[in-house]
Amino acid sequence: MDKFIRVLVDFSAKVLYNVVTRHISHDKAFQHVLREYRKASTVVPLKALYWISHDIVADYYTIKYVDKLIYGGKGGTSFKRMARLWLVFRGLESEHLQEFIDNVERLRRRLLRSMPSKYSSLEEILDTIDDPVERLAVELSYPTWLVRTLVGLVGLEATRDLLTALNEEKWWIRVNTLKTDVDSIAERLLDKGVVVRRDTDLDYMLEVLDFNEPLHHLEELWRGEIVFQDKASAMVVEALEPEPGDIILDMTAAPGIKDTLIMQLTDNNAHIIAVDVSRERLRRTRNVLKMYGADPSKIELVHADSTHFKVSKRIDKILLDAPCTSSGAIGKDPAIKLHLNDPSWIEKFPHLQSKLLENALMQPGHYSIVYAVCSILHFEGEEQIIRILNKASLVLPRIPGTEGYSVYSGISRYVRRFFPHLHRTQGFFIAKLLKH
Ligand SMILES: C[S@@+](CC[C@H](N)C(=O)[O-])C[C@H]1O[C@@H](n2cnc3c(N)ncnc32)[C@H](O)[C@@H]1O
Repeated sequence: MDKFIRVLVDFSAKVLYNVVTRHISHDKAFQHVLREYRKASTVVPLKALYWISHDIVADYYTIKYVDKLIYGGKGGTSFKRMARLWLVFRGLESEHLQEFIDNVERLRRRLLRSMPSKYSSLEEILDTIDDPVERLAVELSYPTWLVRTLVGLVGLEATRDLLTALNEEKWWIRVNTLKTDVDSIAERLLDKGVVVRRDTDLDYMLEVLDFNEPLHHLEELWRGEIVFQDKASAMVVEALEPEPGDIILDMTAAPGIKDTLIMQLTDNNAHIIAVDVSRERLRRTRNVLKMYGADPSKIELVHADSTHFKVSKRIDKILLDAPCTSSGAIGKDPAIKLHLNDPSWIEKFPHLQSKLLENALMQPGHYSIVYAVCSILHFEGEEQIIRILNKASLVLPRIPGTEGYSVYSGISRYVRRFFPHLHRTQGFFIAKLLKH
């Protein structure tokens, strides 16, 4: 047991260290540490290493606070100490830990004895915090500035619901109707223990309610019959209303998931100019398009910087699914929460989004634009739209979702937001514009 805990702590600390210092996702950090520390999986099952390191990353702000309270910030950041504190103060709530350790309470008490702590539960620790915003930030493990911002936008209770739901991973499946039909996929998935529910808004979407085996093992995925795509992400394409014959400029196309949906909705009859600044991601796009049966003769892949790129032909529609903080996708990768504590990383997005939007408005002719970000932050959503309203007009996208943040009363009715606690999706912002 001692060796088991030592390896688990060492491994998780290395993952946390990599996420913090190299600015990478939990999955990437996990793969990296596994390559360097392969023998860890001979002592602790891979599943335990994955999920416990995942949960330690997800609970970073909680354990950081506990660490400061107990050790007073002495000795700088010790990732191993943080991993041990997680076992003590979060371990009891973790179904992943319970799965691999018979008596978590005994382990907790033993570890606690080696700590200079007068606290024995997270509840007691949370009671030391008077400010409700700070308390919520520690309890749900988010940077305080983010919680304060959201409380200013939607209030304390809605922020609690939003951030609680955002901590959970949600799975949606898009059925690729270019290759198969929804009923037969739903039946086959059920036979494999994947319980799905048909969506009432989009007939090709399935909400995953339960599953036993990792979803990435499904052969339907490798055959291109299903796509893991969030419902809110599909709504971005729905807002564009692609029609057969449309010429569509996708300014930030890679890895091409939304383009495959455009081709699905138009039965491979749209023409797409798919631009991306990343050569590596465009290479992946080529494979994705092929895998999902999108007609390659209808899609031009262009390696260019869309802050400057100009099309030479008439276009009907622009899709701008802009690079963003991905704060709406924290459920998929808890490392995003840690990156959100780096102001220099956050600041680069609004600037880039403005430049991309400006250039979207500089193409020849008349066309509509759908601007979207997978973000819950106002400065990547409403504030970007307000800035360019002298050059374009807002049109109401024909999609569900809620209005934008009400403090932006001039535009909130015309834009759409999706939230995990209200729509069981990722957090997304979607606006539709007509170029003057
Ligand atoms: C949110 S992702 C797009 C996802 C894509 N629409 C899909 O559904 O698969 C944003 C993309 O913008 C690209 N990007 C970032 N800056 C860019 C720029 N200046 N010009 C073109 N593409 C850019 C990134 O390489 C990334 O692939």
